[in-house]
Order: sequence, then C-alpha cells, then structure tokens
Amino acid sequence: MGLTILVIGSGGREHAIAQKLIQSPNVSTVFCAKGNAGMTRDGIQLVDIAEDDHSGLIKFSKENQVDWVFVGPEIPLLNGIVDDFTAAGLPAFGPVKAAAFIEGSKDFAKKIMNKYEIPTAEHQTFFDFEQAKAYVIEKGAPIVIKADGLAAGKGVVVAQTVEVAIEALKDMLEYNKFGSSGAKVVIEEFLSGEEFSLLAFVRNQEVYPMVIAQDHKRAYEQDKGPNTGGMGAYSPVPQIPDQMVKEAIETIVKPTAHAMVEEGRAFTGILYAGLIATESGPKVIEFNARFGDPETQVVLQRLESDFAQIIDDLLNGKKPDIKWKQEGYSVGVVVAAEGYPNNYEKEHKIPDFSDLNTAHVYYAGVKAQGNQLVSNGGRVYLIEASGDTLKDAQKSVYDVLNKVNTEGTFYRKDIGFKGIK
Ligand code: AMP
Ligand code: GLY
Repeated sequence: MGLTILVIGSGGREHAIAQKLIQSPNVSTVFCAKGNAGMTRDGIQLVDIAEDDHSGLIKFSKENQVDWVFVGPEIPLLNGIVDDFTAAGLPAFGPVKAAAFIEGSKDFAKKIMNKYEIPTAEHQTFFDFEQAKAYVIEKGAPIVIKADGLAAGKGVVVAQTVEVAIEALKDMLEYNKFGSSGAKVVIEEFLSGEEFSLLAFVRNQEVYPMVIAQDHKRAYEQDKGPNTGGMGAYSPVPQIPDQMVKEAIETIVKPTAHAMVEEGRAFTGILYAGLIATESGPKVIEFNARFGDPETQVVLQRLESDFAQIIDDLLNGKKPDIKWKQEGYSVGVVVAAEGYPNNYEKEHKIPDFSDLNTAHVYYAGVKAQGNQLVSNGGRVYLIEASGDTLKDAQKSVYDVLNKVNTEGTFYRKDIGFKGIK
C-alpha cells in the first residue's frame, strides 16, 4: 500500500501539486479539499469539505487513513491548520500559524528583515493618513504603498506620482478599502530591476532551494494593466545570473530560515521569496509561506526527484534527495475570465484538452456541468509546456492555445518575453 495524501486548496497550484504527488510510485491515493472538477481527470479525488473546517478535515483524514496533508494556500496556514492537524496527531506539511505570519503581515516581515539585516526595500509603517502623506511627500515618487495584511495580490500600489500614492493611502487608511488589511500600511522605496521568485523547501534551519521562476503579475501584455494573482510564469529565468541566485540564497533565504528559528517561529514548509535583482544585489519585495501560483505549475515540472518522497522525508526528519533538471525550460500561460481581475464572466465552456501530448493543463476556476467543464473563477486554467529553449516551450504553449476556442476568456501572448532576446 502506497501513501494516501490530502492536498488542501482548489486552484491551479494545487492541481500541479496533487498531480505531481499522484505520479509518485509510492503514492496510491491523492484527495484534494475542495479541489476543482478538472482535477478528477488526473485521478485526484475531490473532498467536499471547506478549507476552514479544520475539524471536518481532521475527521476525514482519520477515517480515510490519510498519511499526511499538504497545505497549498496561505489562508488555512494563517488560520493555524498545521497547528490543528499536528495537535490531532496527523502530519501536515506547511508552516505553523506563527511562522506563516511572515506572509500574513508585511510589517512583521519587514521587522524580521531589519533585525537580521536581510536586504529589502527601505520602508516605514504607518497607521495615520497625515503622517503617511507627509512621508510620501518627503520621499517623492516613484514609491510603493502596501496594505499590511493579506489582500490577494491587490493591496500593492506602485505609484509613479506622489498624487497616486496619496490617493492609495487615502483608500487604505481613510476609506478602509482593504478592511483591516489596510488599516496599517507599509510605504516602501521603489526598487528597479527584474523580478524573480525563489522558492525553497525549508525545515527549521535547513534550506533546499528550488529553481527560480518569473511571474507576470500584470493583466495585459508588456506588463500593462492591473495587478493580478499572476498571468503566467516560466522557469528557469536565463537573464538572472546564477551568482544573483546564489547571493539570494546566502543573504536572504538562509538568514530568514535562521531568523524564524531565533524568533521562536521555526518555519517548515515552502518559503517563497519575491525578489528584485537590483544593481546592488537581490532584495526582497515579499515573502510568502507557500508555493506560488502560477510559479508552481512550471517549477514542479523542473523537479526530477520524487516529490512525494521529498515531502515524506521532510516530515520524517530524513534528508531529502532533491534533483532539478539542468536543461530546458518550462512555460505556463494562464487563461483568465474576461474582466479578471475585476468582475468577470462565468460559465463559458472549457475546451477539451484530453489529447494534449507533451503539454499539460492545470485547472483552477472551473466546475462541471454534466461532462462539460465550464469557467467558474478568475483564473480558469493554465497550459504548460517544456522545450529545449524558452522559445520552443513558449511556442508549444501557444500552439495549444491557438487551436482552441477561448471565448469568454483571455490570456497574455507574451509570457516569457523578458527571457527571450
Ligand atoms: P507584491 O504583492 O508585494 O508582490 O507586489 C506586487 C507587485 O508590485 C510586485 O510583483 C512588483 O512588481 C511590484 N512591487 C512591489 N514592491 C515593489 C518595490 N519595492 N519596488 C518595485 N516594485 C515593487
Ligand atoms: N504568483 C504570486 C503568488 O503566488 O503570490
């Protein structure tokens, strides 16, 4: 009998995680709560229990002999799902609530970075509109305004002018646009340079970095339009030199894991560092306490070792064997509902992807109507393909998308453009 695993979450990231787990020869069953209807096509079994129903999930896990749980999204982590499973005697992979706070509060993350001299943008935290406004006027534009708490990627305003910055402060501090998440704001120096995501498996002090990826946060081509959860990603990122990545591991990821132990908030799980490659080295713009979406859909493609075995080893105090592909690239393009990230269309038919050869589809905002999948969320699905060059991988993805009916949805035609000369 192989392992029985429960994945928590329902997006494309969780589809990629669950699919990678089910491919392991040591895994017999993968459940996903709540998952989405597209996942069943890969043999993933859906569990109709909400992410915040910890006792329901624990009961299910006991009744179904679940060996361990993998938590995808940040909200259950910040709600202490790992603490609750652990207390019930069930292993769960992900940070405990106190450690997930590195994502839950930007102010807390900044305090850690200052205390342990981890390179990040210069910043100050404010509760008061007039004081925040005075600081913005003093510093000038461009400048970055961030709501303190979780805001699904939408609580950040990169202001090109002082007026825009003040408008954002007004929205967050005076009009409470982000509720309690915006009652406190972090005002940050604008960093110029290319962005990249460096994720790592972390167990207390131990850090096992993954291959890097680059997300595309803006809705439209050439990085225009509003910020989204991410419209596509690719891995690795050829224009970011190896030395920059090495420096980020040594000056950012390892010291952060160490800092969390020192602070009594030891982190075990996936630590995601959102970085900018500046002229004076890599600097942090955000930490997440989980895998990225859509980074996961391309990064896990690059993993050669058995993913389930890695997590099992990390949970059982063993040294994991982690190998990454050294050649080639992976590109993933998100297909989103027309209107996303604002109000969007729903219930458009999803094309049939059952005959994909080497490309993969990861479903997110979909539901079943009979045998037909229809759109039901902002980011609907992602098509991933690999290739010897970034251009080949990109072409393979767009070859798939060019042939299907994408009515009611849209996607960026330039995912990977910064990596292609
Ligand atoms: P975040 O939600 O913190 O990842 O921010 C959303 C986006 O805003 C990032 O992907 C960056 O493109 C941009 N951003 C955030 N912080 C900064 C910064 N200090 N300097 C420049 N751009 C930033
Ligand atoms: N793709 C950005 C994130 O997952 O936070």
